[in-house]
Formats: sequence, structure tokens, C-alpha cells
Amino acid sequence: MRILMVCLGNICRSPMADGHLRKKVKDLNLDVFVDSAGTANYHVGEAPDKRMIATGAKFGTPIDDLRARQFKVRDYDDFDVIYCMDSSNLQNVLALARNEQDRNKVRLILNELQPDANLAVPDPYYGTMADFEAVYDLLDSATDCVIEKIQNGKIR
Ligand code: 4NP
Repeated sequence: MRILMVCLGNICRSPMADGHLRKKVKDLNLDVFVDSAGTANYHVGEAPDKRMIATGAKFGTPIDDLRARQFKVRDYDDFDVIYCMDSSNLQNVLALARNEQDRNKVRLILNELQPDANLAVPDPYYGTMADFEAVYDLLDSATDCVIEKIQNGKIR
């Protein structure tokens, strides 16, 4: 199983989602490869935002070793599930889909917590530390649901 987390810049939300899921699959010894990417190229090669790194470190999920990259069509071949943080990311990822098989891989991550609610992980980039902590918590819960689905064989 290979899972990709996607946001806009790949420096705030998707690295945190990536970090949470990597840590959980490692702790549970699950055979799952996790990565993340941004739909934009603004921050390619950069470490995550300092505020997201600090939040991850404060609450026990370090993400300082991750580096930003841009989502590419090839990711459709390399991943089984592509989780987007908001509907704008989803539209940008879907715009690169080549066929129905590609499109079926793309989901909103918060639909794992609240199916069909189509909620967004709010972009914290112009926000406060409280916004970063809220992102941390939301993605901790959402990745718990992803883990549960993997363990129950329910990720298609
Ligand atoms: P992310 O947050 O998509 O969660 O990584 C953002 C990071 C950078 C920018 C926007 C959102 N930016 O405009 O540079």
C-alpha cells in the first residue's frame, strides 16, 4: 500500500499528515509507504514551515527531515490512494488525472473522519500557532481513521 498526502505548498498540512501516518505505520509495523507533495512549486526542496515543525516537535511527531516536492502525473502510477487537504488541492490533482483509475485514487482526507462532509483542513499559512495546532489535531484524528481502515482492509 502506498499513500500520498497532498496540499498546496507541501510545507504545512501535507507534511504533517505525512509525518503522522509515517509514524503510525512504523509503530504498528505496517507495510505502507507514505509520502507527500504540493500542487504548487513555490517551496520545492524546502523543509516544512518552521511553525509546523515546532508544532510537530512539541506534540511528538517530528517532520523536520521532510522536503517539499511538487505533485506530478507519475504519482498516479506510484500511489494507491491520494489524500488531498482541501477541495482546491483535489481539483488541481484531478486536473492531471488521465483516466477513471487515476480519478478513483483521489480523496479528501477529512472524509475519513466525516464521510461525505467534504470538509477542508484549513490552510494555516497565514494563521496563528493555534491554527497550526488545530491542523496537527485534525490530521492526527484523520490518520487514526486511515490506520483503522488499512488494518480492516477497507482502503480500496
Ligand atoms: P500548505 O500551506 O499548502 O499547507 O503547505 C501553504 C504553504 C505555502 C503557501 C500557501 C499554503 N504559499 O502561498 O506559499
